[in-house]
Amino acid sequence: MLRHLSPEQPEGFEFSEANKKWVDAQIKKYPLGRQGSAVIPVLWRAQEQEGWLSKPAIESVASLLGMAPIRVLEIASFYFMFHLKPMGSIAHLQICGTTPCMLRSSENLVRLCKERISETPNTPSKDGKLSWEEVECLGACANSPVVQIGKDYYEDLSEKSLNQLITDFFAGKVPAPGSQIGRHSSEPQDKLTTLRGKKSNKLNASVAIAVQLKDTIKRVTGE
Ligand code: FES
Repeated sequence: MLRHLSPEQPEGFEFSEANKKWVDAQIKKYPLGRQGSAVIPVLWRAQEQEGWLSKPAIESVASLLGMAPIRVLEIASFYFMFHLKPMGSIAHLQICGTTPCMLRSSENLVRLCKERISETPNTPSKDGKLSWEEVECLGACANSPVVQIGKDYYEDLSEKSLNQLITDFFAGKVPAPGSQIGRHSSEPQDKLTTLRGKKSNKLNASVAIAVQLKDTIKRVTGE
């Protein structure tokens, strides 16, 4: 699929102070003349900050890394994880539609997103807050069906629980990611057969970090 830059572009792009510090630290990991090796994390941070990659963002990354802008555009347009047009300003929902999730009714989740967000994928809702797309296996099949938002996974979803999440996202709330049926990780749904010791924390490590950072539906400013 051919991917183009959006016809609508902002005037410019600048990393926030904290994100710029983070970017400089990434660039320093590589020897002089090889700064281009940092292109993917730096593009990703630009997208985390703005929600998508504009032409000025791509040019800014190219200039920071000493690369020709066309080389950076080639990378941004090759990988589908990079959005070349504006997505939902609050959250972009990536719904897994591969077999295990499909067998656990991910098609209902897609239908719900069509009803509540927008009829077509990669199109912001009328108020511009949310967007969605169907993606391939997110690697969390044991907790299917799964939706990824930024760094976080919402797992063990049903139409009802996703409907509530969408309501919360529209209202600017930050619902906790992870299993939506209270599973700690990917243990059996009913009864544990192994590793039956007491859990030290209610939330698993990645959910605990997400809850602490509250960055699931807020742009990453680096602070
Ligand atoms: S099939 Fe959905 S996470 Fe693997």
